[in-house]
Amino acid sequence: MQLIDSFGRVATDLRVSLTDRCNLRCSYCMPAEGMQWLPSPEVLTDDEVVRLVTIATGELGVTAVRFTGGEPLLRRGLEDIVARVRAAAPDVEIALTTNGIGLARRAQALADAGLSRINVSLDTLRRDRFIALARRDRLDDVLAGLHAAHAAGLRPVKVNAVLIRSVNEDEAAELLEFCLQHDFELRFIEQMPLDADQAWRRENVVTAEEILRQLGERFTLTPVAGRGSSPAEHWIVDGGPATVGVIASVTRPFCRACDRTRLTADGQVRNCLFATGETDLRGLLRGDTEDGAIAQRWREAMWGKAAAHGGGSAESPSTGFAASNRSMSLIGG
Ligand code: 5AD
Ligand code: SF4
Repeated sequence: MQLIDSFGRVATDLRVSLTDRCNLRCSYCMPAEGMQWLPSPEVLTDDEVVRLVTIATGELGVTAVRFTGGEPLLRRGLEDIVARVRAAAPDVEIALTTNGIGLARRAQALADAGLSRINVSLDTLRRDRFIALARRDRLDDVLAGLHAAHAAGLRPVKVNAVLIRSVNEDEAAELLEFCLQHDFELRFIEQMPLDADQAWRRENVVTAEEILRQLGERFTLTPVAGRGSSPAEHWIVDGGPATVGVIASVTRPFCRACDRTRLTADGQVRNCLFATGETDLRGLLRGDTEDGAIAQRWREAMWGKAAAHGGGSAESPSTGFAASNRSMSLIGG
C-alpha cells in the first residue's frame, strides 16, 4: 500500500537528506557561524539509508528518490548508496540536489553508479555576489561541477536559482543566458522562510511575477500548459527547445499537488517541508524491527500530513507559513 494522506494525495517522490553539513553557508539556509551539527551516531549509516529507501520503493510505491542535504557530496559513500539503490530498484529515478562543489571529480562515477539526474544550485555568476550569498569563495568549483555533470551525461542538468533582494535580484536574465549557452535547464525558486536567522520577510521575496518580468525584457516566453504534479511552471524560451521554470512556492503554493515524503539525515519522516512534527524511523531501524512495521509507521506519518502549510485548504493554501522548526540543511530540499 502506498503513502496516502487523509486528503487523498499519494507520495511517490522521496527526498532523503544524507547529511546536515555543508561546505557553503547560503544566507537563506544557514547562519554564518555556530551551526550545531548532528552527532555522527545520530546520522543514518549507508546501510540504514539503503534499507529505508528500499522499503520506500519496494513497499510504499515510491518511484523517484532524490538525495539532498546539507550537501550530499560530503557523504563519501554516496556513489555506493546510489549503486545499491539502483540495484534494488532498477526502474526508480534517482536524482541528486547538490551545490556542485566536488562534483567535477565525482560526476562520472555517480553517472556510472546509476544516478539519473542532477540539480545544481547556482544563484549568481558573479564572484563577489557568490561570496555575499554563500559566504565562501567557491563559484569556480560550482561551475566546474556543472560542466562535469553535463559531460558525464547526467542530462538534463538542472540549475536551481534563488534570487535575494539587494544581492542578486537583477540577475535572472543573465542566469538564463548562461544556462541556454551551456544546455542547462534553469529553474528559479521563490525564497521560502527556511533560513536559520529568521530574517525572511514576505515583502522581500523576489516573486515569480518579478522574475518573469525581468526575463521578458530579454526573452520571448511562451507558457507550457499544465503544471501537473510538478511544482515548477515552465515557459518555452525564444521558441524553444529550451525552457525555463519558476517554482512559486510563496506566491502560488502547490500543496494540493504535493507528492513528496521526506527523510531527515537522522532518520525522521517529515510529511511536509513545514511540518512541525516528525516520525522517528531510526529508532525502529536500530531496534530490530521488520521492514513491514517500518513501512506501516511511515504510512501513519504520511496519513497525518496537513492540507497545506500555514493554514488554508489544500485547494487554496494560505500564502503564509508556519515557521519551520528546522533549517533547510536538515530537512533536505
Ligand atoms: N528558499 C528557497 N529555496 C531554498 N533552497 C535552500 N534554501 C531555500 C529557501 N530558503 C534551495 C537551494 C537548493 C534547493 C535544495 O533548495 O538553493 O537549490
Ligand atoms: Fe549548503 Fe545548499 Fe544550504 Fe547553501 S542552500 S548552505 S549549498 S545546504
